[in-house]
Amino acid sequence: MRILSGIQPTGEKHLGNYFGAIRRWVNEQAEADCFYPIVDLHAITVAQEPTELRKSTLSLAALLIASGIDPERATLFVQSHVPEHARLAWVLECMTPYGDLRRMPQYREKSQTHAAFGVALLTYPVLQAADILLYQADAVPVGEDQRQHLELARDLAQRFNNRFGETFTVPRGTYPEVGAKVMDLQDPAMRMSTSSESDLGVVRILDPPEHIRKKIRSAVTDSGREVRRSPDKPGITTLIEILAAASGESAEQIQERYTGSGYGPFKADVADAIVELVTPIQRRYAELRNDQAELTRILARGATKAHAVAAQTLQRVHEAIGFVPP
Ligand code: TYM
Repeated sequence: MRILSGIQPTGEKHLGNYFGAIRRWVNEQAEADCFYPIVDLHAITVAQEPTELRKSTLSLAALLIASGIDPERATLFVQSHVPEHARLAWVLECMTPYGDLRRMPQYREKSQTHAAFGVALLTYPVLQAADILLYQADAVPVGEDQRQHLELARDLAQRFNNRFGETFTVPRGTYPEVGAKVMDLQDPAMRMSTSSESDLGVVRILDPPEHIRKKIRSAVTDSGREVRRSPDKPGITTLIEILAAASGESAEQIQERYTGSGYGPFKADVADAIVELVTPIQRRYAELRNDQAELTRILARGATKAHAVAAQTLQRVHEAIGFVPP
């Protein structure tokens, strides 16, 4: 079983990234052959400050390892270190209908919020498909927001196989039962996101405990006092979901426990559960992030392993489409 999933080296990673992706990547390592690229080629589809990008790429590697990714088991690497990603993306772009890309949610969102953007914002999901197909991934653990991108990757694999013969494994997206779409604490109609308007709405994995407590205390709720999941209680529903994801309890167990207790004690427990979850990650991160030499070594090893697999697939693709071998 082959797993691939990527993450952008931009902004500080939050509980949505953790529950939707990172934690599941850690769990997959024991069973599957896992590839986890830090996708810097995707990051530059919107403007990045070079010094910042360099720093965030290494600190994201440290955060992933601190969260439990074991570079001895999983292949952790930087996307731009493996040139086959951009090369396969080109081939796939030549087979992707323009209309399919214009309908992608991330494009519609970002093309509205960024004043100027390059064409790569449109072709972004094709590069993502290349990431997945290069490694013949069977499964791609992601959050709900990536569903359409995964559908495109499947379509492209099937279309290529039909036209040129069996070349790619057709991947499937996998989504967690709890935490597939963690919502913003200030605006529970929006997904928790690195580019959120309000810092208070986003709990970052590296937030100090007192910030986490403050964010949970100030999370918007309705004026009632019942701890219950319901469409008319989106704020409380979000907090129940976060507690369920952090503690492993079911939403029903949580609702039962807080019957009649009001929001205060419930919110305090949500904050405690998050702090308990992130404290060991923060401790390991603090030890790792300054060892740039070690991080660089780990990423170089990952790139070598990734390259061996990616080069094989690209060669098959080039043969299938009729390129003359070099
Ligand atoms: P990115 O970097 O935005 O997010 C990384 C992972 O976090 C998940 N996620 C969430 N899950 C639940 N609730 C949320 N609020 C939330 N916010 C983010 C995302 O679904 C993702 O799994 N395009 C991808 C990166 C990528 C990729 C790939 C993923 C590039 N190539 C190949 C899978 C396979 C992205 O921007 O993720």
